[in-house]
Amino acid sequence: MADSTSEGMSQQRWEATHEYIEQLFSDDRERWSREHDAAVEAGLPAISVGAAVGRWLSLLATMSREGGAHLIVEVGTLGGASALALARGLSPEGKIVTIESDPHHADFARGAISRAKEHRIDIRVGEGLKVLPDLVEELGVESCDLLFIDAIKTEYPGYLEAGFPLVRSGGLIVADNVLGAGKGWVPGSIDEEPSRVAIDNFNKMVSEHPRMQGTILPMRQGLLVAQVR
Ligand SMILES: C[S@@+](CC[C@H](N)C(=O)[O-])C[C@H]1O[C@@H](n2cnc3c(N)ncnc32)[C@H](O)[C@@H]1O
Repeated sequence: MADSTSEGMSQQRWEATHEYIEQLFSDDRERWSREHDAAVEAGLPAISVGAAVGRWLSLLATMSREGGAHLIVEVGTLGGASALALARGLSPEGKIVTIESDPHHADFARGAISRAKEHRIDIRVGEGLKVLPDLVEELGVESCDLLFIDAIKTEYPGYLEAGFPLVRSGGLIVADNVLGAGKGWVPGSIDEEPSRVAIDNFNKMVSEHPRMQGTILPMRQGLLVAQVR
């Protein structure tokens, strides 16, 4: 039965919901907003995770291993906001390797990471699909506690295939924008728009994978979280 608490999720209610969550559960909102403004001023697109998704990333990294993550791999650095959020969940000796194809974005991220006095983030400039197989060689199979995917949407299925061998049993695979892929909302009838098709395929790959158990958190544009068994 409908009541005043079960109205549909209007855009206004959606925004108010996220504002409420951010106010309660995101620390350092001022730093987030300062770094966001600096990134946009430097010509970077305004597409980094916000403070609320950032809090999820910190929590997931913390939960990925007792005592904090030893190794995290990220695809899509941009200005370093998500890498810095993930770094909050690292063990003291842990590290993040983050892949970015655009040298200008990588340069900005180096500055942001240094301003945050965080020395455990290693930026690799290159294409995710090329760098991931090299990382499997370099870091070892099942060496990683958490793989975070947040680069080109059409390449999500490829990142999953190339990055899966890195993640240890019990480790996490996390991906952003798995409901909204830029040009439209993924659920509903999937048209031929390449990002939506690829994201839908990616979500199905995870849901049908015999060694993954996961779901999608409907935060912002959707955050997929799966554990490797
Ligand atoms: C959505 S942004 C990442 C946002 C970042 N994770 C954050 O929340 O702060 C996507 C980034 O992926 C980068 N990118 C695009 N194609 C890529 C590729 N093939 N390999 C690695 N990075 C790529 C873009 O230059 C951009 O900086």
